[in-house]
Amino acid sequence: MTQRRPLIAGNWKMNCLRADGLALASGLAAKASEKGTLGCDILVCPPATLLSDVVGVTKDSAVGVGGQDCHAAVSGAHTGDIAAPMLADIGAGYVLVGHSERRADHGESSTDIRRKAIAAHDADLVAVVCVGETEQERDLGATLSVVNGQVAVSVPDGATAKNTVIAYEPVWAIGTGRTASVAEVAEVHTAIRAELVKRFADGNEFRILYGGSVKPSNAAELLALEDVDGALVGGASLKLEDFWKIIETCA
Ligand code: 13P
Repeated sequence: MTQRRPLIAGNWKMNCLRADGLALASGLAAKASEKGTLGCDILVCPPATLLSDVVGVTKDSAVGVGGQDCHAAVSGAHTGDIAAPMLADIGAGYVLVGHSERRADHGESSTDIRRKAIAAHDADLVAVVCVGETEQERDLGATLSVVNGQVAVSVPDGATAKNTVIAYEPVWAIGTGRTASVAEVAEVHTAIRAELVKRFADGNEFRILYGGSVKPSNAAELLALEDVDGALVGGASLKLEDFWKIIETCA
């Protein structure tokens, strides 16, 4: 059995003003340093306004920092966007690409997301490529074809287990309090693993995170699954105690 070090990632989305965000990040860094040896990698993805300061307060800790999105181009006339080299330049190590909220709110396609992932790789960032079906797609029995299709197009050929993490987030489980069942998560993660193994020499080493209403009360059963290598946490990552409890599940 391949040992993949879990990754517990917090996606703060469009939350936190400066005071709250820096308190959360520095509290997390302090807890991680106090604990010493951790059973997982830790990542926080704050809003762009706080990235640089969060890098500052987590600098000497085990807490990694990532952006929530990047543009596919390295620079240029793209008002409001952030290029992957800009994230790398301020000390971020990761970037989320293809979160379902960006697919929905900004009309991002899997092709767009592949381009962003390539830009992330070119900037030496780890791309966290997000995939997941809507409730309607699940009800139609299309979950595996939708998710496999998103993985096939969104994950670039140059992906490796070192520069890419996959996050499976069923859209209907995000922010709803409704978590996918252990059996539903296992089925999709196993299918994603099979696709990765088919396509990449190190497909067995990629980390596949689950996201969607992960909280302290359900983290352990989800993280115990063979192909669940961590979590992408929204709401619960905004509460230091809750996020820390999820991290401690991996201890
Ligand atoms: P919630 O944990 O709030 O459901 O959000 C999940 C998510 O979208 C993380 O990217």
